[in-house]
Amino acid sequence: MTQIGVDVDGYSVRCIGPATIETMPTPDGPLLVRGATRVVDDDGDDHRVQRPVVAVCRCGTSTRPPWCDGMHKLLQNRDRQRQNDRADR
Ligand code: FES
Repeated sequence: MTQIGVDVDGYSVRCIGPATIETMPTPDGPLLVRGATRVVDDDGDDHRVQRPVVAVCRCGTSTRPPWCDGMHKLLQNRDRQRQNDRADR
């Protein structure tokens, strides 16, 4: 059994799996985790993993923590729009 701890913005998770676990942060997005069968969050809630690769939220705004639900893209698009609006003034 392999277990690694991962610190993400504001909290941490433990990724647990039967063999090697690989993680890869995406630019301004989630942490991709390969090889985990469980992800345990700070509250001790145990989330079963049923896919070869899962995306763990790193921005803290997901409505389905610990998983990324794409909310980071909406916030980035909103921020870009605000910057464009300011530049247009
Ligand atoms: S990284 Fe947080 S919602 Fe995607």
